[in-house]
Amino acid sequence: MPVDLSNRLGCKAWQQRQRIENSVKHIAKGKKLKNPPPWCQYRILKSALRISGLWGVTYKQYLHPTVERNTFHITDLKSDLNGFKILQISDLHLDLDPAYLPSLVGCIKALKYDLCVLTGDFQNSFNAADQVVSLIRPLLDEIRTQVFAVPGNHDTSDLISKLETAGLPFLLNENIPLKIQKSNFYLCGVDDPIYYRSHNLAKARLGVPEKELTILLSHVPTTGPEASVLGYDIQLSGHTHGGQICLPGGIPIAKGSSPRTRVKGPWQEGNLQGYTSSGVGASHIPARLFCPSEITLHTLRVVN
Ligand SMILES: [Fe+2]
Repeated sequence: MPVDLSNRLGCKAWQQRQRIENSVKHIAKGKKLKNPPPWCQYRILKSALRISGLWGVTYKQYLHPTVERNTFHITDLKSDLNGFKILQISDLHLDLDPAYLPSLVGCIKALKYDLCVLTGDFQNSFNAADQVVSLIRPLLDEIRTQVFAVPGNHDTSDLISKLETAGLPFLLNENIPLKIQKSNFYLCGVDDPIYYRSHNLAKARLGVPEKELTILLSHVPTTGPEASVLGYDIQLSGHTHGGQICLPGGIPIAKGSSPRTRVKGPWQEGNLQGYTSSGVGASHIPARLFCPSEITLHTLRVVN
């Protein structure tokens, strides 16, 4: 049975997530898929990489995350928040191949940050909750600050519940005020907007005073326009893996659901400043080409 998250997600969002999770159970029982996922495409891609001699290169890129640095320039930023650093980790897909973990933990150990956020896709397959909770332990032990997460399209409610029990709190269409010395800002998070479609950006900022700085965690960057209309200041996303397998120059081979301008790095939507992380892990095959995996160190800076 899925864990009941209705009191946190909101009734409608919970029913939506539950309906999709039950359909996943049908898939697990061997019933036919209406829209089969592209596993066979990935098998072909893996074979192509092996035949072309690129497999070793792509696996090496997968194994070693890089640290990307991004600055959000904000008018009227409270002085206590000037220089505040947020470490973003996204798309771990831990059960696919956790061989990158020692390198990832080493990267994090060397960084200084004030808050850590994880923007979804902890598991790759839908039934890896226990494995993921075990694998993520060294990472959670290394994070020395407060940490919050949102789910991705791969993350089931039982996984969310087990990760919370393991000490990783989620924001499920919810927000939390964070006090930095004498100043507040609000960290808001939504459930997955693309597969479960159980996100609610309006609910996620309920009770937030209009003039306070709001940072939204949303697994996919496609929520940018709605987040902008609702007055969020910053959105942090993942999901795209930056394209994962790209042409030279980081040009994604496959066109995903996200607009080209929001596949990776910083982007702007009205007054909203957004950032899409290329993520740490990979989908379906542990390989990256012309698209290094990343963790991201964001800095808040006041506009002079
Ligand atoms: Fe992902």
